[in-house]
Amino acid sequence: MTTTNTIQGRVSAQPRLHQTAPEIQAYGTVSHLLPLDLEEPVRLEMTERLNQLLADTITVRDLYKKSHWQVAGPTFYQLHQLFDKHFSEQSALVDAIAERVQLLGGISLAMASDIAETTRIARPPRGREEVPVQLSRLLDGHQVIIRDCRDLARRASTIGDDGSNDLVVSQVLRTNELQVWFLSEHLVEVPLVEARGQGETNTRGGGPQTLI
Ligand SMILES: [Fe+2]
Repeated sequence: MTTTNTIQGRVSAQPRLHQTAPEIQAYGTVSHLLPLDLEEPVRLEMTERLNQLLADTITVRDLYKKSHWQVAGPTFYQLHQLFDKHFSEQSALVDAIAERVQLLGGISLAMASDIAETTRIARPPRGREEVPVQLSRLLDGHQVIIRDCRDLARRASTIGDDGSNDLVVSQVLRTNELQVWFLSEHLVEVPLVEARGQGETNTRGGGPQTLI
């Protein structure tokens, strides 16, 4: 056989480029037999649900990077750093969820176009938004994920997939709950310089005085 990659039958250093072939596994299927002691229907249901969680987690992850880049205002530095920290934590979750789908014999979603079609989190505009709007969008995204986590974890436990239950509770749910705390505290209206609550202690002019 003569091809562009062989010269009179000798091995060539020419890379084989532009190769194509049919998929080796269709999306939405799982390998029939795996030594996991989990039946195929269980793995089918779990991989489908984990892919939904994956799509929403990828969306929140990317929303954090958008927020990291586009944040503006007096809290720029603090939020710029916080958003990137949360992005990194969400990236770790994305990898853990996707690899759980694969180890269950399924196929994980991966590409942006598929994520956009699958996620339940509202699409943000391309332009910049005010900090309170950025924070609200992120909190709404977390809420979608947290609600899904509790339901998915219970279902995983019911049908015997303890590994998925553990991943969803110990990593995904706990991380999202913590990030909600860090975001939501930024939306509490508190004075920056001077206390204004009725009956609070006023430290102006030396020693503390009680305002009546
Ligand atoms: Fe950066």
